[in-house]
Amino acid sequence: MQVIIVETPEEVGRVAGERIAAVIRRSAFAVLGVATGSSPLGAYAEIARQVSDGSLDTAGVTAFALDEYVGLPLEHPESYHSVIHRTVTEPLRLDPSRVHVPDGTAPDLEAACADYERRIREAGGVDLQLLGLGANGHIGFNEPTSSFGSRTRPKTLAPKTRQDNARFFDSADQVPVHCLTQGLGTILDARELLLVAQGAGKADAVAEMIEGPLSSRCPASALQLHPEATVIIDRAAAAKLE
Ligand code: F6R
Repeated sequence: MQVIIVETPEEVGRVAGERIAAVIRRSAFAVLGVATGSSPLGAYAEIARQVSDGSLDTAGVTAFALDEYVGLPLEHPESYHSVIHRTVTEPLRLDPSRVHVPDGTAPDLEAACADYERRIREAGGVDLQLLGLGANGHIGFNEPTSSFGSRTRPKTLAPKTRQDNARFFDSADQVPVHCLTQGLGTILDARELLLVAQGAGKADAVAEMIEGPLSSRCPASALQLHPEATVIIDRAAAAKLE
């Protein structure tokens, strides 16, 4: 695992965005795995900057989101369909027909998950998967005790995750209880992983992920298994590394 420690949260975004832009420059039809949440926003801003100054063309890019809440209408402002549209598809000027998000409104959730896996396979797999890190060590919504071999599936959100995500809703009890998430096995299939984390609130999870044992208690420790995993963190998030 390559660990890049930079001084500020802004630098995390710039360095991560530059790496993703380089993947798109190498392959105009790159397949990106994209995350929601606060952590990747700086990276998206850097890519959007390059798109709007005309130095990067994203017209051929395909994107797959990591996860989605179950039961939120697609048009709800906090559904990941809406969030990905607002923070990724529009600013990066992606073709909406090439942007995929698991369907948390499907009547048959298991079938929706199997269909999502099929779509990823048919796109030729993910070239680069961008990840944030939960304070409890989750990636995607693979909460502690998730299996390293897991595929896209319905999951129950950990109370800590619902608490952390309450900031996006009017109250904590509005945060959905269930989600669909790419599995750790699905994530590990990506050809390259790029995880970004900023701030002291992530320092324990960062240390567990990088220096802790390989353990389903810290799902992000699965990155230790991947030959092309890069972690970009700021000083505050790196504070508990030995
Ligand atoms: C989002 C996701 C989550 C977040 C994580 C960190 O699609 O899969 O794993 O990346 O919860 O969230 P932030 O970045 O908001 O701290």
